[in-house]
Amino acid sequence: MAASRYAVIGQPIAHSLSPRIHPLFAAQFSIELSYEAIEIAPAELAVRLPQLHADGYSGINVTLPHKATVAALCESVSERAQLAGAVNCLKRSDTGWVGDNTDGEGLMRDLARLGIAVASQRVLLLGAGGAARGVIAPLLALQPKELVVSSRNPWKPEELAERFKGRGPLRPCTHLALKGDHYDLIINATSAGHDGSMPRLPGPLLVSGGSCYDLSYGKAHAPFAAWAQSQGAAKIADGLGMLVEQAAVSFEIWLGKSPDVEPVLAALRNS
Ligand SMILES: NC(=O)c1ccc[n+]([C@@H]2O[C@H](COP(=O)([O-])OP(=O)(O)OC[C@H]3O[C@@H](n4cnc5c(N)ncnc54)[C@H](OP(=O)(O)O)[C@@H]3O)[C@@H](O)[C@H]2O)c1
Repeated sequence: MAASRYAVIGQPIAHSLSPRIHPLFAAQFSIELSYEAIEIAPAELAVRLPQLHADGYSGINVTLPHKATVAALCESVSERAQLAGAVNCLKRSDTGWVGDNTDGEGLMRDLARLGIAVASQRVLLLGAGGAARGVIAPLLALQPKELVVSSRNPWKPEELAERFKGRGPLRPCTHLALKGDHYDLIINATSAGHDGSMPRLPGPLLVSGGSCYDLSYGKAHAPFAAWAQSQGAAKIADGLGMLVEQAAVSFEIWLGKSPDVEPVLAALRNS
């Protein structure tokens, strides 16, 4: 029997670690699976997605720049993906694609794996882009004492507070207005690290013994890691664990099996 076909789509796509992660998951269950990285330009998405269905693909991961636009091409989209305004996982149905978002669940699992608490904690989320939008509802579901969303652009946190109104204690803020605040957990969901920078923040913001988590990994993690160290963080984590955990959620959606993330994470860190 031919191996089931899976893929990740985006542009650019060569950097994606997903083609390494999913075969390692599949090997844990002796499942035959092929997983490709397919580059698709935004203008081609509406034509290529039905084509991938016709070609028999069973599941697709979606990355930039298609996360926000692919929902319109799905026959249905999960509630969490609608809330996040982004789809990163497609499961084949007989007639089309069912969209979901595994990023929020991936972060929650990684925080739990690392023993970083959210319940009853004061949590600061830096950044108000697509990734921030995807993690707010699951963070609020864990009942933090307060979740503050802060960004350079003052309007984006306001829009997020409106979007997630009634889901928990979410407060919009600007980086400057954080002055004098102290948080138990600071999560970096900005993309600043990709150009080697760190959002400009006012003074100490972390309580003694607090934790810092960065959605970025690899070289892009370095600026936030250095800042977290300067804040005296007891725990500093990059987003590689979230990446592997969100992939595990996709794998579960597609194949109904829960892979062990630890050996896969170790393999990625060792390479
Ligand atoms: N580990 C994982 O599995 C995972 C999953 C998803 C995303 N991510 C990572 O999360 C990060 C954010 O992704 P995204 O999709 O949310 O990107 P995005 O939608 O482009 O949003 C980027 C955010 O970063 C802020 N920003 C960018 N450059 C900045 C700078 N120099 N100083 C301060 N703020 C800056 C923007 O601020 P303004 O709003 O003020 O413009 C915006 O809030 C990326 O590094 C991405 O790789 C990781």
